[in-house]
Amino acid sequence: MVRETSLSPRNLIYPLFVTYASGEPREIGSMPGNYHWPVDVVAREAASVAELGIPAVLLFGIPEAKDAAGSGAYAEEGVVQRAVRAIKREVTDLVVITDVCLCEYTSHGHCGVVRDGRVLNDPTLELLAKTALSHARAGADIVAPSDMMDGRIRAIRSALDHEGLTDTLILSYAAKYASAFYGPFREAAGSAPQFGDRNAYQMDPANRREALKEALEDVAEGADIIMVKPALAYMDIIREVREAVLLPVAAYNVSGEYAMVKAAAAAGWIDEARMVEEILTGIRRAGADMILTYHARDIARRLRG
Ligand code: PBG
Repeated sequence: MVRETSLSPRNLIYPLFVTYASGEPREIGSMPGNYHWPVDVVAREAASVAELGIPAVLLFGIPEAKDAAGSGAYAEEGVVQRAVRAIKREVTDLVVITDVCLCEYTSHGHCGVVRDGRVLNDPTLELLAKTALSHARAGADIVAPSDMMDGRIRAIRSALDHEGLTDTLILSYAAKYASAFYGPFREAAGSAPQFGDRNAYQMDPANRREALKEALEDVAEGADIIMVKPALAYMDIIREVREAVLLPVAAYNVSGEYAMVKAAAAAGWIDEARMVEEILTGIRRAGADMILTYHARDIARRLRG
């Protein structure tokens, strides 16, 4: 009766990795319990996520080939575009969100266009808008840019509106830190930068005001949901963003946070189910309306008893 914070499957978003491979899903080594889903069977997985009462999935694509321009990201028959169409055809009542970025598709592994060893902000915007458009045309309900280029929310919003896709929402990875916690994801997506790092476009973990600035800019540019990422080392940022904006706030309980729990559980050092519930309740208490988490399936099953 006096409990202040609730945690329900309705608060969760489950990330799914989609590949061109055929056959059975393959477990991701760095993220036990999560899989690479062949595009022709991913709808089956999406349906079972929906049955657990989880309202949304977020799709990441693993392309067949990469190139300097990241052309797989905005290909008509790209892996995410195909997955969205398949899921939308077979599953009703599931929100389909797509991650919009270039790093999984570029040979250099950066989130933008690279020239002379530098990532160029403005030329990247056009490719991000193209990618978001192709996802929306395929049927995505929400596009989620994770690149951290400046001005991309405005560029994507205007490209969508121009095509009449006015009902497609934008979930912005607004305050995304340059974090060691993305390690297991980069192994899963093969998206580690081939030179340098992402410090020029992702945020310095030491900065707090900058997170608010990023969030407010994205609100002004037309974002519909504001995300903070990672979650655990940034609970204060989640709280401050919650207080600074009126939009829904999302938090990303990222791959490294997941992998730490799974490793400790495998060693027999912790009670996994209790720890996951405590972590996710804490992120909710910090102010997140919704949480992207690789634990979503397991915890939803547990919450439903
Ligand atoms: C793509 C992207 C990344 C993640 C989500 N989208 C990786 C990165 O920025 O290097 C990380 C997700 C996770 O660690 O769970 N830019």
